[in-house]
Amino acid sequence: MKKTVSVIGLGNRGTEYMGFLRHFHSSKTEIYALCDIRQQALDDIAPKYNIPKERQFISPEAFFSRGVISDALIIATQDASHYEITKKAILTGYKLILLEKPVSGVKAEYTELNNLARENNALLIICHVLRYSNYYSKIKEIISSGKIGDIVTINHTENVGYFHFAHSFVRGNWRDEFTSTPSILAKCCHDIDLIAWFVDSPCVSVSSVGSLKYFRRENAPEGATPYCMGGCKAKSRCPYDAEKLYITDPFWKAKFIKYMKRTLTGKAKNSKADIINAVRSGDYGRCVFMCDNNVCDNQLVNMTFENGASAVLNMNGFSHKMFRECHIIGTKGELVGYGNKLKLHIFGGKTERINTGIIPSGHVEGDIRLISGFVKILCGETGDLTDITTIDATVISHNIALAAEESRKKGGERIFLEKE
Ligand SMILES: NC(=O)c1ccc[n+]([C@@H]2O[C@H](COP(=O)([O-])OP(=O)(O)OC[C@H]3O[C@@H](n4cnc5c(N)ncnc54)[C@H](O)[C@@H]3O)[C@@H](O)[C@H]2O)c1
Repeated sequence: MKKTVSVIGLGNRGTEYMGFLRHFHSSKTEIYALCDIRQQALDDIAPKYNIPKERQFISPEAFFSRGVISDALIIATQDASHYEITKKAILTGYKLILLEKPVSGVKAEYTELNNLARENNALLIICHVLRYSNYYSKIKEIISSGKIGDIVTINHTENVGYFHFAHSFVRGNWRDEFTSTPSILAKCCHDIDLIAWFVDSPCVSVSSVGSLKYFRRENAPEGATPYCMGGCKAKSRCPYDAEKLYITDPFWKAKFIKYMKRTLTGKAKNSKADIINAVRSGDYGRCVFMCDNNVCDNQLVNMTFENGASAVLNMNGFSHKMFRECHIIGTKGELVGYGNKLKLHIFGGKTERINTGIIPSGHVEGDIRLISGFVKILCGETGDLTDITTIDATVISHNIALAAEESRKKGGERIFLEKE
C-alpha cells in the first residue's frame, strides 16, 4: 500500500516537493490532502493531483479537525505560521513531519516544538536542503576523513545575488523581520547549519555587525517613483528596474522569472497581461528604495567553537553571483569551494579538483535528495537518522542566528551561547 502525504502550503516549496514525490516516488507514495488559505492555490493544484473536494482544506484548523488523515505531513507555509501549524500537527498526532525553515524566530517556540516532538515521538525534519547535496556531503566526507586535519577556521560567504536579494528581501516575502524573520535567520540558517555541521563542536560565542545599508529611501535616485512603471526617470540606469527584471529582459525571463510568476500574481497560469499588471502595481513592481523593508542587506557573523575552531559568515545582497563560497582551513590542508567547484589542497601535497557532480540549478539537487531521505523514512526503509536534519540540529543554527542578531543590535558585542 502506498504511503500518504498531506501538504499544507501550496506555494513554491510545497508544490516543488509534491512534484518530486510524484516524479520520483509515485510507486511508494501518494499526495492525499491539501491545505492552503488561498482558494486559488487549491483550485490550481488539487486537479493536478486528483485531490477530491473533501480532501481540500482552506485553513489548518479545518485540516486538523479531521485528525490524522495521512502517514506524513509537509508544512511549507510562510515563516510566521510554522510554529502554530507544527504544534497543532504534533498535538493532533502526526508522527512524521517535514517542515520548511526557518522554524521560528522565537527561541521559546522552536525549543517548545523540539520538546513536543520528543515527548510525542514525532519525527520533525527541517528542510536544511543544502546538507543533502552532493557538494556539501562531499565537503563533510572530506572533513570527516581527516584529510585536512582539524578545522582551524572557516570563511563562508553567502552571495545572495543583487536581483535575488531585491526580489525576496526588499520587495518580497522576507523583507520584514516582523512578518518573517531577520535575514540572517531566514537566508543564512542554512549557512550557519552547514558551518556548525562541519565544525561538529558546540558554538561558544557569536559576534556580529551588519545593517540595512542600501535599500533605503534616501538612496533613491533622482526622479525615482514608487513603482518602476510609474514614470521613473532613473529606470534605464537602475539594475533593479522591475519592468526589465520581470517583463522585458530575456535573460531574466528565462533564468529567474520562469520560477517566480506564481509569486508575482498568486496564480499558477499567467497571461502576459497578468504579469504586467502585477509589476505595474504589485509588491514586486515597487522601487527598491521605497519599500517597507527592514532586514539587513549585509551582515558578518563571527563564531567560536568549543574545540577551538572559529568561523566567519559574510551574508550580502549585492553580488552578481548567486552562490556560496566556502574556505575551510584545517591543520593539514584546506578546502576551497566556489559555487559547485571544489578544490582540496593538502599541505606539502597536490591540489586536487573534486568532482561533486553537477548541481542543475540553485539547491534543487539537495531538495530532491531531502525528499528521497524523507520517503525512505516514511516507507520504513531506514531507521538511521545520522544524516537527517531533525529539529535538534535546527536548534543549533537558530540559536546562533538569534545570538548574531542580538550582538548586531548591541553594536557587535560578543554573545555567549548557553549550553543546551
Ligand atoms: N529550504 C529552503 O531552502 C527554502 C527556500 C525557499 C523558501 N523556504 C521556506 O519555505 C517556506 C515557503 O516558502 P515559499 O517560497 O514556498 O512561499 P510561498 O509564499 O510561495 O508559499 C506559501 C504558501 O503557504 C500558504 N499559506 C500561508 N499561510 C498559510 C496558513 N496559515 N495555512 C495554510 N497555508 C498558508 C500561502 O497561501 C502560499 O500558497 C517559507 O518558510 C520559506 O522561508 C525554504
